Amino acid sequence: MEIPEVRVLLIEDDEDDYVLIRDLLEEVSSTRYDLDWVSDAGRGLDKLRGGRHDVCLLDHMLGELTGLELLDQAGGNHCSTPVIFLTGQDNYSLDMQAMKRGASDYLVKGHISAPLLERSIRYSIEHRKTAEALRKSEKELKYLSSRLLSYQENERKMIAARLHDELGQILTAVKLGVEDAIGLMPEGESCTRLKSLLPSIQDGIDEVRNLYTRLRPSLLDDLGIGATIHWYCRQFKELHPKIHIETQIDILEDRIPSSVKDAIFRIVQEALGNVSRHSSAGRVHLSLLEIDGNIVLTVQDNGLGFDIDAALPEDHRARGLGFLSMKERTELFGGTLKIDSTRGSGTTITASWTN
Ligand SMILES: Nc1ncnc2c1ncn2[C@@H]1O[C@H](COP(=O)(O)OP(=O)(O)OP(=O)(O)O)[C@@H](O)[C@H]1O
Ligand SMILES: [Mg+2]
Repeated sequence: MEIPEVRVLLIEDDEDDYVLIRDLLEEVSSTRYDLDWVSDAGRGLDKLRGGRHDVCLLDHMLGELTGLELLDQAGGNHCSTPVIFLTGQDNYSLDMQAMKRGASDYLVKGHISAPLLERSIRYSIEHRKTAEALRKSEKELKYLSSRLLSYQENERKMIAARLHDELGQILTAVKLGVEDAIGLMPEGESCTRLKSLLPSIQDGIDEVRNLYTRLRPSLLDDLGIGATIHWYCRQFKELHPKIHIETQIDILEDRIPSSVKDAIFRIVQEALGNVSRHSSAGRVHLSLLEIDGNIVLTVQDNGLGFDIDAALPEDHRARGLGFLSMKERTELFGGTLKIDSTRGSGTTITASWTN
């Protein structure tokens, strides 16, 4: 079996400790280590950032910088090289701080044996590979979901436009034609039959209008997000007369990019849909404001509230898609979504984007 070679960066200002680590690594027969020793923190940081080593052994007391500071400057959790912390003494608090900053292990110099060091290096490299693969696949999923969302939005726009420009126009032309024909006909059975068609044609026209406004209200392009939210809330009140909605919109239209307007409208749709389906609320406060230069959308109800951990289990198959899509839509344009809910005290959804 070929012996693997591992490139090790050792950032350590004490030569005796360098010798100790070198000797330990030489004891390991299963792996060959190419040891690169740097005694100076600044040069060590440069080498670590260079990302050309498989693992870094980092001393804590380095003179000009501590190991923790160096780890921070190297990017902590985002540093591509796994970092094993080396210290002179066992210190739980330091160990925790190093772990939180992304160190993959914490070893106390006086207690290191060759097998322990070998195992720690091997596990650290493997963990980093898994973490990298996860990060990559998460990035790909985010990209895919953002593509899907924009595809869905474009598709809705396209279908709404065709319903409006084509089917809607055809039905209107049919209605006008039938009305013309009725005007030209003498009263009689044929005329009565034609007249009886008019209500159905009108129903068809209304249904097509309903469909394209629900798919994507043209108001959004014509009058903006403020007018669209007011219009949507009026529709919501007609369907749910027991729920009182207050709206507060105080933001200039041109402060909101058009793609964020689409996202805001979809989040309002989903949040109000949730209020009507799940909350039993009597009152909703919806606001769209500019706060400290940020666009902030809030939908707050005074309903039953819910247990967030139970309603949004880790297992995606067991949960609805509403919150997931709100989150995706918010994050797609660099925003953050916050859900606050307590049983008995209602629910507040806050989506905000930095302008
Ligand atoms: N305003 C609310 N008041 C009370 N419970 C809520 C509210 N909004 C959401 N919930 C709870 O959170 C769960 C998850 O909501 P989510 O919108 O993600 O999914 P859903 O509405 O169940 O399904 P979908 O949106 O996919 O049709 C709901 O099933 C409900 O239990
Ligand atoms: Mg929902």
